[in-house]
Amino acid sequence: MTRQLHLGGFQIASNVTHSHASCRHPSSDPGFLTADYYHRIGRTLERGTFDFVFFADLLAVPTNYGGGPDEALRRGTQAAATLDPTLVATSIAAVTRRLGIAITKSTTYFHPFEVARIFATLDHLSQGRVAWNIVTSLSSAEARNFGLENALDHDLRYDRAQEFVEATVKLWQSWEPDALVQDKESGLFADPSKVHAAEHDGLFFKSQGPLPVPASPQGRPVLIQAGASGKGKDFAARWADAIFEIDPTPEGRRAYYDDIKSRASDAGRDPDHVKIFPSFIPFIGETESIAREKQAFHNELADPISGLHTLSVHTNHDFSSYDLDAPVEDVQVTGSQGLFDVARRLSGRDSLTLRDIGKLYAQGVLLPQFVGTASDVADQIEEVFTGDQADGFILSVGQSPSGFEEFVDAVVPELRRRGLFRSEYAGSTLRDHLGLADAPRPQGVPA
Ligand SMILES: Cc1cc2nc3c(=O)[nH]c(=O)nc-3n(C[C@H](O)[C@H](O)[C@H](O)COP(=O)(O)O)c2cc1C
Repeated sequence: MTRQLHLGGFQIASNVTHSHASCRHPSSDPGFLTADYYHRIGRTLERGTFDFVFFADLLAVPTNYGGGPDEALRRGTQAAATLDPTLVATSIAAVTRRLGIAITKSTTYFHPFEVARIFATLDHLSQGRVAWNIVTSLSSAEARNFGLENALDHDLRYDRAQEFVEATVKLWQSWEPDALVQDKESGLFADPSKVHAAEHDGLFFKSQGPLPVPASPQGRPVLIQAGASGKGKDFAARWADAIFEIDPTPEGRRAYYDDIKSRASDAGRDPDHVKIFPSFIPFIGETESIAREKQAFHNELADPISGLHTLSVHTNHDFSSYDLDAPVEDVQVTGSQGLFDVARRLSGRDSLTLRDIGKLYAQGVLLPQFVGTASDVADQIEEVFTGDQADGFILSVGQSPSGFEEFVDAVVPELRRRGLFRSEYAGSTLRDHLGLADAPRPQGVPA
C-alpha cells in the first residue's frame, strides 16, 4: 500500500489561529466563544477522516509589543482572547466518534498530577482519541499570570519538562489495564494488587499516586511536541509520537525532518513512530486564477503591526522600537529561537524588511500558502510528503471554519483518489490513526 498521509486541523480556541487576516475575512464566523463553532470544525474534520484536530494554547493576553495589552486587544491579535482548550476538546469529543483531539498543556505552569488526570479522563471520555502537545511556554506575560516575574530560562524549562513527563507517565501507569473489576456479584471494584503508587520524588515535582483514574484506552495518550532548539528537538525525539513544525522552505523542512529522525534513532526509537507535521494554509479555487484572487484578497487584509505583535509574543522580544524598513536584526530572543531563525532566514534570503516579516506573520505566522485548484494543492502536498519533508500536515485556514470545509470538500477527495489518504477510519483510537505502536506498558505487565 502507498505510504499514507496524516492530516490534522490547526486551531486556537480563539478568533485567530495563524492568519490574523482571517478574523477580518467576510467568510469567517466570529462565533469563537460558542460550542457550535468548534463542533462545526470537529464534524467537518471527522467527515474528512482527519487524524485529529489540534488546539494550540497561550496563557496570556499579548503584552510583548510596546509593553502593554491595549493594542493587541484593539486589534485582536493571536491569543488576545482564548478559551481553555481542554473544555473545548471535551465538547468536541461529545459530538464526534473517531476524530483525534490534541490539546496543549504547559509543563511550566501546571502540575503532573493535574495534567495526568485531565488527559486520562479525556482519553476515557473520547474512547482513546486524545493527544497532549507538551510545551514549556514562551512569554513573560504567561509567567506573570502564574506569579513569576519572568519566564524560566530555556534549558531549565526543558529540564523541568523532562521530569514533568516522567512523572505524568508514572501516574498514567499506576493502574494496570485489568485492575478495574467492577464485579457486582462479588462486590470487588478494583484489584488493589494491580494499582500502584507512582512515588515520584524528583527535583521539581513530587507525586505519591496512584492516579484516581483507571488505565485509559490508549494507556498513554499520544504525545506531541514542537521543539526547535537542540534541547527541544532532543526532548521531542525522546518523547513525541508526533512533532509539529513551521517552515515555509523545502530545504528548512527537509533539514528538520532528517534531524528529528536521526535524533529519534539515536534515542533508540523507531523513526517511523515519530511523525513529522509541517503546516500550511490553502487557497483553493475552481481555477488557478480564482485561487490566486482569494489568496490576494486574504493577504491584503493582513497588517504588519498585528503580525509584529505575534512575532513579539513568540520570541518574547519587543520589536516595537526597531526600524520597520530595515532587515530583521540579529538579536538575542528568549522565546522561540526556531521561529525567529526562520524569520531571519527569510529576511536574508528574500531581502525582506521587518515590516514585510510583520505582514507575513499577520498572513499566517510563517506558514507556506498552497494555492491553486484542488489538484494543484494536492500536488503541493504530495511533493512535500514524498520529498522527505513530512509524514503529514496540520492544516491552518485563512477563514474559519469555512476554510476547513473547502479543504475537506475539494482536496481530500483528490488525495483519496491518489491513494494517499484514507477514505474511512480503520481503527478507533488516535494511536490507530497515526499507525503508532501501543504505548509501553508498566513494568511486569504482560502485553
Ligand atoms: C506548530 C507549533 C505549535 C506550537 N504550539 C505551541 C503552543 O500551543 N503553546 C506554546 O506555548 N508553544 C507552542 N509552540 C512552541 C514550541 O513548543 C517550542 O517552544 C518552540 O517551537 C521553540 O522551540 P524550543 O522550545 O526548542 O526553543 C509551538 C510551536 C510550533 C512550531
